[in-house]
Amino acid sequence: MTTLPSPATATGPTTMRAWRVTRTGEPVDVLRLDRVPVLQPGPGEVGVRVRAVAVNFPDVLLARGEYQVRPEPPFVPGIELCGDVVALGPGVPAGERGIEPGVRVVGSAIGVLSEHAVLPAAAVRPAPEALDDAQSAALTIAYQTAWFGLHRRARLRAGETLLVHAAAGGVGTAACQLGAAAGARVIGVVGSEAKAGVARAAGAEQVIVRDADGGNLAARVKELTAGTGADVVFDPVGGSSFEQSTRCIAFEGRIVVVGFASGDVPPVRANHALVKNYSVLGLHWALYQQRRPGLVDAAHAELSRLADAGAVRPVVAEVVGFEDAPGAVQRLAGGTTTGRLVIRVADGVDA
Ligand SMILES: NC(=O)c1ccc[n+]([C@@H]2O[C@H](COP(=O)([O-])OP(=O)(O)OC[C@H]3O[C@@H](n4cnc5c(N)ncnc54)[C@H](OP(=O)(O)O)[C@@H]3O)[C@@H](O)[C@H]2O)c1
Repeated sequence: MTTLPSPATATGPTTMRAWRVTRTGEPVDVLRLDRVPVLQPGPGEVGVRVRAVAVNFPDVLLARGEYQVRPEPPFVPGIELCGDVVALGPGVPAGERGIEPGVRVVGSAIGVLSEHAVLPAAAVRPAPEALDDAQSAALTIAYQTAWFGLHRRARLRAGETLLVHAAAGGVGTAACQLGAAAGARVIGVVGSEAKAGVARAAGAEQVIVRDADGGNLAARVKELTAGTGADVVFDPVGGSSFEQSTRCIAFEGRIVVVGFASGDVPPVRANHALVKNYSVLGLHWALYQQRRPGLVDAAHAELSRLADAGAVRPVVAEVVGFEDAPGAVQRLAGGTTTGRLVIRVADGVDA
């Protein structure tokens, strides 16, 4: 990307407000609101005026310097948005994949927690009309991750039982909605009674409140499935949640490893997988964006169709002002939020 003015935005602002991580640490301590130049899109990129940014767990990890990508401070965090295309970089044909100036888009790239952002053209897609700006901002990462986890990796089938850990969280509520839309019977696991209603509203037929250490989760799942266990497990938590899943996975079941929100990366016992005939499947959605963007486009088309049908509705728990971004990222770190926190960047964002 470059800071040279481009003909397409020569009349737009030359500076903007952006949150920047100034050093590694807790989000509330290290995020600073700065005035910086508006970047213009380079070859293969698009410039976007940002409407809203959804907070993600990687924003916490980026601030702490614990994410797999470690930009040099000061850098702009924020990894998904809804906004309007304002400029196309060299080599980006207007109208290709529905992307042209004036189109409301969703997209994912590091560095969007600012009033204007530059993203690879391949990383933005038209926003579904059925979703408002806050819902649209929260669509890409959670729903794409849930889609690839359930359909591409686990090949979930109608009538199967799907166990979703952290079922009231960001990717968890998406997995519940997509599982229900696929005709699966969804069992959600949440950390507290207060979160159970969120999981149910997202499509979980039954909800289990887990003990602090995972407790007797496997026994409860066996009980609810007449001893058969879960055909597919969607696990963004890791640690004892993964371990319990291996105890209640069905014959030929599939456990999708989505993340380690517990902070504990569990070991995979190959002999146990062999003896019980189950699979452990890794999922790193961003790699699909890099290596198979056509599959991501196809998933987006399907998610947009489901949004139009009312089956996909990102659970936006709260929309906060741009000035309140550090507190929102910090709250996500605490593990007590439900659904999504969204930061309103431009005035007039629907919520
Ligand atoms: N693989 C991929 O491509 C991909 C893509 C997106 C996200 N992820 C990962 O998926 C995970 C969830 O992301 P999210 O955006 O859905 O976050 P989220 O909404 O904050 O969900 C995380 C949930 O994990 C549960 N949890 C259990 N132990 C926890 C602990 N010690 N600290 C914090 N939370 C704990 C909490 O729910 P309960 O208390 O109800 O259990 C919490 O709400 C993250 O690790 C993220 O990096 C992976």
